[in-house]
Order: sequence, then structure tokens, then C-alpha cells
Amino acid sequence: MTRLAPGVIISGTGSYAPSRIVTNDEISAQLDTTDEWIRSRTGIKERRIAGDDESTSFMGAEAAKSAMDSAGVSASDIDLIIVATLSPDMLFPSTASLIQTQLGLRKITSFDLSAACSGFIYALEVVSNMMRSDAYQHALIIGSEKISSILDWEDRSTCVLFGDGAGAVVLSKTDDTSAGIIDSYTGNDGAKPELLCLPGGGSACPPTIDSLAQRKHFLKMNGREIFRIAVRWMEQSAVIMLERHGLKPEDISLIIPHQANLRIIHALARSIKIPKEKLFVNVERYGNTSAASIPIALHEARQKGCIQSGDYVLLVAFGAGLTWGSTLIKWH
Ligand code: COA
Repeated sequence: MTRLAPGVIISGTGSYAPSRIVTNDEISAQLDTTDEWIRSRTGIKERRIAGDDESTSFMGAEAAKSAMDSAGVSASDIDLIIVATLSPDMLFPSTASLIQTQLGLRKITSFDLSAACSGFIYALEVVSNMMRSDAYQHALIIGSEKISSILDWEDRSTCVLFGDGAGAVVLSKTDDTSAGIIDSYTGNDGAKPELLCLPGGGSACPPTIDSLAQRKHFLKMNGREIFRIAVRWMEQSAVIMLERHGLKPEDISLIIPHQANLRIIHALARSIKIPKEKLFVNVERYGNTSAASIPIALHEARQKGCIQSGDYVLLVAFGAGLTWGSTLIKWH
């Protein structure tokens, strides 16, 4: 847990969505599921699926360009890049390293951060703290996911839930200490990794004929258990942040939760007693894009005029690990 000094603002936001839209009906044509089941259990109507030429690094670089345009900075102004992803182009080098090159940058600090769907919140905490040193003026945080590449398209209990895309923000240091990233809270309980994981492909289970046959290179999830824990930790993450700052739910102008499932988001709203109108939701169009979900939603919220200067914005996430966290922002 860390309290961050203010003076770091989100100066720009951006996103990239693959053009291919896959509807529930399209999935239902291939698999034993229905639009009605998916909508009623998750709120998801469609998701974007990346093409062969849309890698995690490509989508991340496009989102980064859009965020830099919005911040009014050029690539040469960036001195730090962190990419939050669970679907990197390769295990190494990092996707951040590949994006850095795609942006025409050399010799800056860049690395990937692994905290699954909470990755963007974790990255905000890490970058904000790094920027308190004198070394960095403008940083890029990118959440980019090509989850379709690790989904088992024969497993109806997981493949209908996720989608591809990327979101990015530019963080800039400022002398104005009255606004910016106020505070960050993160946590992790690694006791039950099997609840949501990709068992194969790492050093514990390198690819073999058997591991391929056992479909170990695809995402595995215990949906019911994850649902229960997600609601609890999203609520805790929000409450802890409100209590730390003496804020009431009505003081928050907008909550941007991780977009995993509409029922989880509504359960969060009920438990912290915040009206649904204060929640930003776009899960119906993207599904769960993991680390990309909050930055995509943040960008859309800004485009729709949902965030004004002086607003308190609360970001709340949950993901594999199991990880969770929240970030409180006072918009500049
Ligand atoms: N279409 C139709 N039926 C499906 C289905 C699908 N796509 N997926 C699962 N089912 C079936 C199951 O096989 C089960 O059938 P059974 O009772 O005959 O065994 C039935 O639906 C009910 O399964 P259940 O797990 O009780 O459904 P649920 O109401 O819990 O909803 C999830 C399932 C996955 C939607 C829900 O648990 C969930 O959203 N969990 C959180 C997942 C998540 O957000 N993960 C990411 C966190 S970052």
C-alpha cells in the first residue's frame, strides 16, 4: 500500500480497437451457447478480435500514439514506458521493448508489468512513484491484450467473456499539486493461482505434445469462485480508498471499474451504495480486455465528456493473481 504525492497527472488518454466485431450470435453459431445466456450472465453483446497483423505490441503502440496526441506530446518527450499485459507478443523481450521501437524510441526505460486485469492500476502506482524521482517527465502506461490468442475457443465458459484491444495514458509531472493521481492501493493473494491462469508455456509447463493435447496453453478459470472474490475485493479496494481520504461515495464523480462482467460491476455499485449512473460501463461492446479495460474505458469516458476538471475519479480493478487495486484521481 502506498500513498502517492500529487503532482503527476494523466495528461492524455488513447485507445485502439481492432475493427473486427464478433457478436454473441457469431459465437453461438460455432459453440453451444446463446446471445441470451451471454447477455444475461455478463452484459456482453460483442467483443473485438484482433487480426493476424494486430499483435499486442501493435495495438499498444497505436493506443500510445492516440494518448500522446491527446496529451500534446511527441514520442521523443517520453522517457518511460510500462506495458501491462497478460498476452505479450513473446515471453521476452518485453512488449514494452517492442512498442518502444515501434514508436521510434531508443535508450529509455521500458518494461512489462504482470498483474493481469489489475495491471493498469499496478502500473499507475509504479509509474507515479518512479516519477517522484527527477528522472522522468512524461511516461506512457499501456494496457494491451490479444487475449483471443490464449482463449480456448471450444470452452464456452471462458471464450465468450474476453476481447482484444489496447488503452494508454500519458502521465506527466506537474508543479500543480492540487490535482492528479492522489493515491493508489494494490493487493495480491497468490494462494489459489489455479482459479484463473494460463498453465502452459512457462518454465513449469513448457510446450510438449502432451501439454498441447491437454489444452494447457489456454486460459483456465473457475468462473463462479472468481465472481465471488472479485465482488469482495473490488468493494474493499473502493472502500479502502474512500476511507483513506475521508470521502463518501457521493463525493466521487465517476467510478471506472474493470470491465469484466456487468453483474460484478452492479454488485460493486450496490455494496458501496453508489448510483449506477456514476459507473462508466462499456463491457457490452468489448467484453473483458484485461489490462486494457480501464484505460480504454477512461479514454471513452473523457471523449464522452463524463470527466470534468475538479472531479474525483476512482478506478477499481480485480484480476488473476489474485490481484486487486484502486486509484484515486482528482482530475486537473
Ligand atoms: N453458454 C451457455 N451455458 C454456459 C456457458 C455459455 N457460454 N458457460 C457456462 N455455461 C453453463 C455451465 O456449463 C453450467 O452448466 P451446468 O449447470 O449444466 O454445469 C451453467 O451454465 C451455469 O454455470 P455457472 O458457472 O453457474 O454460471 P454463472 O451464473 O456463474 O456464470 C460466469 C458464469 C463465467 C459468467 C460467471 O461465473 C462469471 O462472470 N464469473 C466471473 C468471471 C470473470 O469475470 N473473470 C475475469 C475476472 S478478471
